[in-house]
Amino acid sequence: MSILVTGGSGYIGSHTVVELLNSGYEVVVLDNLVNSSKESLHRVEEITGKKVQFYQADIRNREALEDVFTKESIDCCIHFAGLKAVGESVQLPWEYYENNITGTLCLLDVMRKHGVKNIIFSSSATVYGDPDQVPVTEQSPVKKCTNPYGTTKAMLEQILTDIQLADPEWNVVLLRYFNPIGAHKSGRIGENPNGIPNNLMPYITQVAVGRREKLGVFGNDYDTPDGTGVRDYIHVMDLARGHVKALNKIKDQSGLTIYNLGTGVGCSVLELVHSFEEATGIQIPYEIQPRRAGDIATNYADASKAERELGWKAQENIHTMCEDSWRWQKNNPNGFAD
Ligand SMILES: NC(=O)c1ccc[n+]([C@@H]2O[C@H](COP(=O)([O-])OP(=O)(O)OC[C@H]3O[C@@H](n4cnc5c(N)ncnc54)[C@H](O)[C@@H]3O)[C@@H](O)[C@H]2O)c1
Repeated sequence: MSILVTGGSGYIGSHTVVELLNSGYEVVVLDNLVNSSKESLHRVEEITGKKVQFYQADIRNREALEDVFTKESIDCCIHFAGLKAVGESVQLPWEYYENNITGTLCLLDVMRKHGVKNIIFSSSATVYGDPDQVPVTEQSPVKKCTNPYGTTKAMLEQILTDIQLADPEWNVVLLRYFNPIGAHKSGRIGENPNGIPNNLMPYITQVAVGRREKLGVFGNDYDTPDGTGVRDYIHVMDLARGHVKALNKIKDQSGLTIYNLGTGVGCSVLELVHSFEEATGIQIPYEIQPRRAGDIATNYADASKAERELGWKAQENIHTMCEDSWRWQKNNPNGFAD
């Protein structure tokens, strides 16, 4: 099978491409490099010893998509391409809706014109909003999101659901990721945020490597054991393996399916900081700051459906996630710019 991976040079995409190549799939990557570097794909090729066909193109560019679908014989698309910074999306809602929604509509239209009706979509635990109960299952209500980024995920889930309902030839897998951290064990690829990191782990590793002075912890008065926010951190390689497993659902022609990809274990901000310190021997200075608008106290997954139906379960623990994040950052203090 030949898989088109949009956003394939990004963080989750590049790790998934490694797993796809190692599982014998042919991979075509399309990315406009707005938030990534081509270097990640050179390193994917180095890790796997296999070739990646790369197109530098935008999912909003219909002609470029036509070109890819004409030249390549694509069976399925794993669709990662999108803008993903929560805070930025509040400042730039038009840009987020246009990139993520218009881009995906354009992609879906070209796909169906070429008879490719198989898609795995990167959704997010953010669609659960502030859940009434944890752990969240796939049946938990999709709630109003607190930011335009999250809203694009909920809207795209709805769009894909409606398209599949109208045309049952479509096979759609919606994967709701929890909080990916970690990196490939080689330390050659990893998360490489532009500017100030939005997410906790890259912030911690940048403090550890001396690029930032200290970590800001947003709120220690939440209703959680130590007062800081609790999330479900999942190793990016476990997430990558989840996509390979999800391809079996596509092959089974399962229509529309939805899976949480998380570990089922909640971990607070301070627990993650201390685990990192333990795993690496490096102290992370931090400062408690006011809560950040839109943040919630606790969210973690019930991932038992993915285990039952996909035969997928997260293998890695917080300790190895911290070790692997650190190996990547230590070897590449400035990310792919090194
Ligand atoms: N990292 C997370 O915490 C997280 C959590 C849940 C869901 N997701 C989703 O998973 C997907 C991948 O996330 P990531 O962390 O790897 O992000 P990333 O920014 O590293 O990867 C996204 C890639 O998409 C590309 N891209 C963006 N807009 C594009 C466009 N119009 N045309 C072509 N390429 C475009 C970027 O250059 C980048 O390489 C995203 O859809 C994101 O919303 C991420």
